[in-house]
Amino acid sequence: MSVNFYPPLDLKVITPKLELRGATDALLTQLLPIVREGVAERQPDPFDDPMSLYDDNPVRERKWLQAIWRGRGTVRPDAWRLYFVVMLGEEAVGMQDLIGVNFDTFRTVTSFSWLAPGARQQGLGREMRAAILHLAFEGFGAAQASSEAFFDNVASNRVSEALGYQANGHDWATRRGEPAVLNRWRLTRDVWALDRRSNIELVGVEACKPVLFIQ
Ligand SMILES: CC(C)(COP(=O)(O)OP(=O)(O)OC[C@H]1O[C@@H](n2cnc3c(N)ncnc32)[C@H](O)[C@@H]1OP(=O)(O)O)[C@@H](O)C(=O)NCCC(=O)NCCS
Repeated sequence: MSVNFYPPLDLKVITPKLELRGATDALLTQLLPIVREGVAERQPDPFDDPMSLYDDNPVRERKWLQAIWRGRGTVRPDAWRLYFVVMLGEEAVGMQDLIGVNFDTFRTVTSFSWLAPGARQQGLGREMRAAILHLAFEGFGAAQASSEAFFDNVASNRVSEALGYQANGHDWATRRGEPAVLNRWRLTRDVWALDRRSNIELVGVEACKPVLFIQ
């Protein structure tokens, strides 16, 4: 039986390489040293504004946590966000979020992620995106996933391309106040289904659906 009153904290997505676990405060605490050390220190800047991870410590840690708590508490049929900590065994190495955007009307989601700098370029970024897509399409019945990344964010753009997303135009955003072009990507359910993974396990999905107003 669940010990949590908020079922998304009990959600798990388990792949052969990693596990996404609902971002409890205990798991977020494990990530704090990584956030303190910095996940947006390397160029090019990966995140669009506003972004707590660009702030200096100790404001950074506090704003980062507050944004997640706010996200947990803002759950509407047309707007929700699930926060997951990426686990390698019992080691927390990053975050992978799933964001419902007008899910009640269009069944559309987008995603957001980061890894500790030392955990990058080992295939984890791709694996955690595949995991969250499995939750969205298989678990929640999504119709389409989108993604955006600055034109020079090679890793994020490559993850989208490799998982079958198709280019869907461009947009503008600022990062640390400077304008830059975003690449937009979209993955439809039909295309996702062509390479549907059979080795990803979902735990706790049914209990989440009523909380997210998913029929
Ligand atoms: C985006 C991010 C989560 C991707 O995770 P990752 O583990 O580094 O990515 P992977 O190892 O799965 O690599 C995915 C692909 O990108 C390529 N890649 C990754 N980093 C790269 C780099 N710095 N330069 C060139 N190619 C790179 C990999 O070779 C791989 O390509 P392939 O599919 O052709 O083999 C991670 O890089 C990160 O945390 N970046 C900072 C935050 C960020 O950009 N978040 C996304 C905001 S939109």
